[in-house]
Amino acid sequence: MRKIAGPAAMTAMLVLAGCRQDMHNQPKFIPQRGTTFFASGRSVRPQVEDTVARNQMDQDAYFYTGIQDAKEGDGLPIPLNAATLERGQERYNIYCAPCHSRVGNGAGMIVQRGYRPAGNFHTDRLRNAPLGHFFTVMTNGYGAMPDYSAQLTPADRWAVAAYIRALQLSQDAKPSDVAPNGHVEDLHAIAKDLGMPNGFADPWALPSTAVYGTPNGQDNGIPGQPMGTPPAGAGAHYGKAATENSGQRDSGGEPAAPVSNGTPYGKPF
Ligand code: HEC
Repeated sequence: MRKIAGPAAMTAMLVLAGCRQDMHNQPKFIPQRGTTFFASGRSVRPQVEDTVARNQMDQDAYFYTGIQDAKEGDGLPIPLNAATLERGQERYNIYCAPCHSRVGNGAGMIVQRGYRPAGNFHTDRLRNAPLGHFFTVMTNGYGAMPDYSAQLTPADRWAVAAYIRALQLSQDAKPSDVAPNGHVEDLHAIAKDLGMPNGFADPWALPSTAVYGTPNGQDNGIPGQPMGTPPAGAGAHYGKAATENSGQRDSGGEPAAPVSNGTPYGKPF
């Protein structure tokens, strides 16, 4: 049999409901609404001068931004040692190598499968770029490249930047960099001795499955090739607008003029 709530239960419900109302109506500031409490009428208060909120103690701005005197700085704000480079190598191989490749020539697996060619770290411009440039690219993203600030802590971003410098040295070493009694051997000779396939020591070419074309059908710089040169083995995709290639879409760059097959790419939809 169902019971009807008795007077005691009713009173309890009313009391509880009353309680809730009190909590609702307590004095508080609602975001973006004014107040009569402060003379300025603002409920959102500026931070009290000379105080630091929790988690806001970013004392070392260069460490967090890579920017010094309003431009990208060139120092490494963490200690440079083998542990830093090892950490940088590990993080680089996880987060950057899929696009930039393990040697940093921009021809990683994702690019081979059609992503926009990633930056090649072995150009004069990037060899001479300040260290802070690599940090800011990782922090903010760059063109078609997403940012990696969620995946990499600032310290890890610096470690990766340091490792990129090591990669740059590794691909641009000169016999004079070797200690006087060191032994210099040609990579082709080493590859041959080790029984590596022909071309192992040659500059990389992207396979014919790669999409080289931007939406306007121009190439955007292929690692190890002068602009506008189809790499050896480039297939029918070379120089084609991304929209003409098996439905793949370029993820960055200038909006294009309509391409020959009349797709509306780059036009307002
Ligand atoms: C999803 C693919 C992808 C990943 C992963 C990626 N990048 Fe890139 N990166 C690109 C592309 C694409 C460009 C060229 C941007 C463009 O052309 O729009 C680029 C360009 C760059 C450049 C050149 C900037 C310049 O001045 O030309 C640097 C430096 C760079 N990336 C660093 C990194 C680092 C470090 C990581 C790892 C934390 C990383 N990238 C991960 C795709 C990627």
